[in-house]
Amino acid sequence: MNSSSVIIKKDLERINGKLLSIADRVEKFVPGIKDKLFSGGKKLRPSLLMLAYRVVNSKVEKSHFKQALDFAAVIEMLHNASLLHDDVIESAPLRRGKETVNSLYGNKKAVLAGDLLTAFSISLLYGLENSKIVEKSLKVYGEAAKKLVEGEIEEVTGLFNTSITEKEYLKVITGKTAVLFMAACETGAILAGANKKQTRALRLYGINLGVAFQIMDDILDYTAREEVMGKPVASDLLEGKLTLPVIYLLKSATKAERLKIKSIIAKIREGRKEKADIVCISGLLKKHDSLEKAYKKAGIYVKKAEVSLEKLPENEFKNALLKMAKFAIERSF
Ligand code: FPP
Ligand code: MG
Repeated sequence: MNSSSVIIKKDLERINGKLLSIADRVEKFVPGIKDKLFSGGKKLRPSLLMLAYRVVNSKVEKSHFKQALDFAAVIEMLHNASLLHDDVIESAPLRRGKETVNSLYGNKKAVLAGDLLTAFSISLLYGLENSKIVEKSLKVYGEAAKKLVEGEIEEVTGLFNTSITEKEYLKVITGKTAVLFMAACETGAILAGANKKQTRALRLYGINLGVAFQIMDDILDYTAREEVMGKPVASDLLEGKLTLPVIYLLKSATKAERLKIKSIIAKIREGRKEKADIVCISGLLKKHDSLEKAYKKAGIYVKKAEVSLEKLPENEFKNALLKMAKFAIERSF
């Protein structure tokens, strides 16, 4: 649990209960999945949903509180299903410092475990009462799920593309990460009975926070140690993912350096992965302040997220949302 979530500790415990009872049913098929997926993790999306709910509606017995808990569990399940599939796509050996399901049980089981989670989340959704507010939340959630997959498809299609622009990168990360942050905040607001202005403010907060979070994730891929991140350093580059630091580097590198970077990327594409090449790229990132530049960009999105909260009521939940925005770029994992 992240520190801003202490004030929604009880909500998160109830959400975790729902997640664990579903994970129990997947456990038969993939022993250990419960521990792998739901005992750790930052639970950012459920936290965002509940904070967005409570920032506009502290009288939780009113409106759609129980449905908010269900949506929070569903969003977390979708997120975990997408990670199971992502690890297959990237042949990832580690996730959150533990062996991935694909590395332990193979790709077939990992894909099916993701499918099973998605199916269980659908069954949670059709158990919800039929109301206008639930219908509106379902629409937001459905759109986000679609955009999440589209974002991933765009990323996979553009692997090793050294001409990728900052705009294209932002589009990919908006889809694969920020849209689910946005949906968490927006459904929280809708279910709490927020007005249009409040819903828009939380929607904007979510999307900007999500972009900042993913930029930071892409920076940490180069800067954090393997033990901290739970995955090898420079994994993104080794998979052909050219993220913001490398996009900035390709922009500011000299002609000779650019040729060198491109030749390293071509080598990686052919499966020739050498430590010396990663060291070379790391040196160039440092020389050209590319990580710093990307960090500044993440800071701009955090600022936008903070500003979008200005019109919301002052309370402890708003403070927690502001704290989460800071956490997005101050974290080391
Ligand atoms: C992690 O990003 C991956 C995502 C944010 C999205 C993955 C989406 C899919 C695989 C589409 C399938 C979706 C469903 C609904 C099953 P990352 O690779 O940058 O981060 P990482 O370092 O944590 O792997
Ligand atoms: Mg990944």
